[in-house]
Amino acid sequence: MFLKSHCFLLLSAVFMLSCSEKKSEQGTNALVNIIPYPNKVVVNNGQFKASELTFFLPDEIATLADIMPTIIKGISKAQSKDKASLQFVIDNAMADEAYKLDVNDKGVVITSKNAIGALYGFQSLRQLLPLDGSINIPFVSIDDKPRFPYRGMHLDVGRHFFDVAFIKKYIDLLSMYKINNFHWHLTEDQGWRIEIKKYPKLAQIAAFRPETLVGHYNDQPQKYDGKKYGGFYTQEEVKDIVKYAMDRNINVIPEIEMPGHAQAAVAAYPELGCTGKQVQVATKWGVFDDVFCPNEKTFQFLEDVLTEVMALFPSKYIHIGGDECPKTQWMTNPLCQSIIKKEGLKDEHGLQSYFIQRIEKFLNSKGRQIIGWDEILEGGLAPNATVMSWRGIEGGREAAKQKHNVIMTPTDYCYFDYYQSKSPKEPLAIGGFLPLQKVYSYDPIPSNMSKEDATYIIGTQANLWTEYLNAPEKVEYMVLPRMQAIAEVGWTNTENKSYDNFVKRLNHHFSLWKKMGYKFADKSKELVVKIKSGDGNGVFLELATNGSALPVKYSIDGALSPQSEMVKPNMKIEKSCTLMASTFEGNESQGADTIQFNMHKAAGKKITLVKQPSEKYSANGAGSLINGVSGARNKYGSEWLGFEGENLEALIDLGSLMPINEVKTRFFNGPGQWIYPPKSVSIFFSQDNKEFNEMPAFTVRSTDDTVVDFSVPTANTKTRYIRIKVENYGIIPAEAQGGGHPAWLMVDELFIN
Ligand code: ACM
Repeated sequence: MFLKSHCFLLLSAVFMLSCSEKKSEQGTNALVNIIPYPNKVVVNNGQFKASELTFFLPDEIATLADIMPTIIKGISKAQSKDKASLQFVIDNAMADEAYKLDVNDKGVVITSKNAIGALYGFQSLRQLLPLDGSINIPFVSIDDKPRFPYRGMHLDVGRHFFDVAFIKKYIDLLSMYKINNFHWHLTEDQGWRIEIKKYPKLAQIAAFRPETLVGHYNDQPQKYDGKKYGGFYTQEEVKDIVKYAMDRNINVIPEIEMPGHAQAAVAAYPELGCTGKQVQVATKWGVFDDVFCPNEKTFQFLEDVLTEVMALFPSKYIHIGGDECPKTQWMTNPLCQSIIKKEGLKDEHGLQSYFIQRIEKFLNSKGRQIIGWDEILEGGLAPNATVMSWRGIEGGREAAKQKHNVIMTPTDYCYFDYYQSKSPKEPLAIGGFLPLQKVYSYDPIPSNMSKEDATYIIGTQANLWTEYLNAPEKVEYMVLPRMQAIAEVGWTNTENKSYDNFVKRLNHHFSLWKKMGYKFADKSKELVVKIKSGDGNGVFLELATNGSALPVKYSIDGALSPQSEMVKPNMKIEKSCTLMASTFEGNESQGADTIQFNMHKAAGKKITLVKQPSEKYSANGAGSLINGVSGARNKYGSEWLGFEGENLEALIDLGSLMPINEVKTRFFNGPGQWIYPPKSVSIFFSQDNKEFNEMPAFTVRSTDDTVVDFSVPTANTKTRYIRIKVENYGIIPAEAQGGGHPAWLMVDELFIN
C-alpha cells in the first residue's frame, strides 16, 4: 500500500554462531558486533591490544589511504610494511565482494581481491573496536561474502530536499553496513532536484513549489504553509556525491521519473504535458494527472536529460521510474490515441510500455540498463529491464518468470516511511506499520519460487519516501536501525541470521551512532501490548517490553508511578477502565501507554470470521474486533483489522440470550492509502444459530474524516448470535490513488450494547 538449506551447512553455521558467542563471553568478553553478521566467524580467546593502529596498503588498493582515517579516527599510515599493525593482502582468487579479517596476537590482516573487499573488511574491523577509543580487538577469523550482489537504500529528495552534507552522511551509513547501491530519487511532482544545463527552467521553476501541505494528507481540511520550498543539486555537487559514494564502494543510481510523477517538469515546460496548460509544481502528496505526453518534444527532452545524467553517473543502471502513471490525459489526447493506433498497441498501458521501451532503447544504445518499478510489467516489459517489485512480490515473481532481473522492495518489508512503532508519540508518518523485527524477517526469495527463477532475484532494497520527513534527523530516525536489518537481509545467509543476536549487536551501534551524531529509533524499551479476546473466555492483557529486561508496571483508573504494581501474565480485564502501563528504568518511565477499555456485551465473547483479515493488518486476530479497545483515529497500524478487497463477515456468540440495543462500529477512511469505508453493513440476529432474521442492508455514509462512525439502534432485540456482514467498497476508481486495485476495508471494534 502506498501513501504511499542445506542440512549440513545449516548445522555447521548454527554451531559456529553459538560457538563464537560462547567463546566471546568466556574468553574476550566481547560480542562480535558486526552488522551485517559475517557468514563465517570464529572467535578465539584473547585480544589484540595496541596503543595505535597503523596500516600499510599494497599499490593495487592505495586509493583507500585517504578515506580510512575518516572511518577509524586516529588510524595512520605505517612507515613501512613490517611496522604496520593492520596489513592488507591481495588474493586474486577471491570473489569481488569477499573479504577475510584475521585478528591475532600479531595484529590485523585483511585479505581481499580488490579495494571493495578491503573496505568491507575495514568496516567490519571498525565495528569490532571498542567505543572508548582503545585498541582492544577480539581475536577473530572472519571469512565473509554477501548473499546477494545488489543491496540498496533509496532516498526521495523530491518531496523534501536534503543538502550535500546530509547526502554524504547518509552514504556513510550505507558504506558502514555494506550496502552497495544508493538509489537517488531525483525527480518528483513536488520538485525536480538535478540541474540540467540544456533545460535551465528545471532548476529555476521545477525545483521549487509555492507551498507545502502541513499535517497529514488525510487531515480535513488540508492546510498549507504558504512558504516557497525547494532546491536542487548542481552538476558539480552531483559529481562530488557520486565520487564520494564510489570511494566508499557505493554505486549511485539516479532515478528520473517517467512518464508519471512528472508534474514539476511539466510546470517548467508545459509542452511536455498533454494539455499544454500551465500547471504548478505540486504542493501536496499523491498521484497527479499531469504526466509526460509521449510526443516527440518529450522524447527529445528525456534523451537530452538522460545524456547529461549519464555523463554524471557511471552507474550501469539508470532508474526510469514507471510507477503510478494515471492514463487520464492519454485517454482523451488525440496524439496518444493516434500512437496507440499507429503502433498497434492494445491500450494506454501499451502506450506506457511503448514509452518505456523507447527510453530503454536509447539507454541501451549508450551501454546502460534500465530499472523500473513493477508497473513497467503492465502492457509488456521492455526487453532488458530490471524490475523493482514494490507493490508486493508478484511483480518480482512475474519478472523472474520472464527471465528479467529483479530487486525486491515490497512495501510490507521495505518501506521505511511506514511507522516502526505503535506508540502514539511516533512522529507523523505516511501510515502502515513496519517494525524492526518484520524487516529482519524478510527473505527476498519468495517461498516456493523455482531455483531457476530465484537466480533472477539479484537483491533487495529499502525505500524512504520523504513526504513527512522534512529534516535530516527525521530521515535518520526512520532508517536507523531498520537499515541495519535490511543490510543483514541482503548480506547474511538465512542460516546465519538470528534476530535475538541482531538486537544484542545493535546496542553497540546505538552507542556508535550517538557518538557520530545520528538520530535513531531505539524501540527496545517500549511496551508491547497484546490483548486476547474472541474465544468466549473474556478479555486478557499481556504486557511486555520490546526486548529489554526492564520491569513493566501498571495502574488501573489511577496515576502510574515507579511504585505501581508489576504486571502479571495474562491479566483479565473485567470492566471498562483506563489502564496505564510502562517499562521503568529506575524511576524513569520508558515507553508508557494508556489503554482505554470500553467493555460491551460482546467483549471477550466468541467470534468467528468467514475470511481472516490480511496478514498485514490482522491486529491480534478476529478477537481484536471484540476486545473493548478501539484503534487510533489517525493510524491504522494497531487494533484495526484490514481486509484487502474482501468483505468482513463475522459471527458473534454472546453465550446466552441478551437484549441488544445498538450495534456500533467504525471504518477507517484513507483514500490516499487505498482505504475506503464499506458500501453497506448488514446485521442478522439469531437465538439458535440456525434461523437468522434478516434486516435490510445499511448504507455507510462517507465523510471527510479519517474515521467513519456507524451505528444502528436495534430496539432491545433478544439474541444470542449476531452475524455482521460488511461489504467492501470494491475496486478503487481509475482516477484515484491506487486506481484499479481492490480497496482496503479497515474495521476496529464491533460494539454490541
Ligand atoms: C512507489 O512507491 N510509488 C514506487
